[in-house]
Amino acid sequence: MKYLTIALAKGRLAKQTLALLEQTGITCEEMKDKDTRKLIFVNEELGLKFFLSKTSDVPTYVEYGAADIGVVGSDTILEEGRKILEVLDLGLGKCRMCVAGPASARELLKKNEIIRVASKYPKIAKDYFYNKKHQTVEIVKLNGSVELAPIVGLSEVIVDIVETGSTLKENGLEVLEEICPLSARVVVNEASMKMQRERITKIVKDLKQALNE
Ligand code: PRP
Repeated sequence: MKYLTIALAKGRLAKQTLALLEQTGITCEEMKDKDTRKLIFVNEELGLKFFLSKTSDVPTYVEYGAADIGVVGSDTILEEGRKILEVLDLGLGKCRMCVAGPASARELLKKNEIIRVASKYPKIAKDYFYNKKHQTVEIVKLNGSVELAPIVGLSEVIVDIVETGSTLKENGLEVLEEICPLSARVVVNEASMKMQRERITKIVKDLKQALNE
């Protein structure tokens, strides 16, 4: 039997996904060892391999077929724009992609002024402002703690993930516009879906059922 390889995004989502997989009878004992430095884990019996990668790399591994299946947030899927099949919404890690900033920036968004937008997600920000709002903006790519940008004067607004809203609130910022809801998705390599359709659809079906239990 050919191995099926599953790529998981390092962190909380991987833990939640493994718990869900376990409900479907797919386990990987090796992966539970917290002290391990191993990158790839095998379940010989089920013919499965698992690996953990940086979140933003999951769609890349899946597009190239280095992983047949991946589990990753829809923010990363949108930002990476890879040619992959999105087959299931796991509903985990629900949050929203938003335009945020100080209340005073609300006017700037209405007036279609040229403003600076800081984001870890330049592609999503560009698509929203250029294609949906038809507003010309300057996008500044940052790598984290994006809420800092409007506070220190780097940008007027940010495009970022809002979950509880507490990071914004504690920094005197608020949601100005909502771009889209986000959650974790199961993605599949296009060729794998053709070659290993039965095995993959069985896993997806079992996951769907586990979600409803
Ligand atoms: C994310 C996001 C916000 C925060 C939102 O950051 O970029 O900063 O979580 O969550 P909240 O609405 O519940 O406060 P993350 O912790 O992933 O790190 P980052 O700042 O490096 O992006």
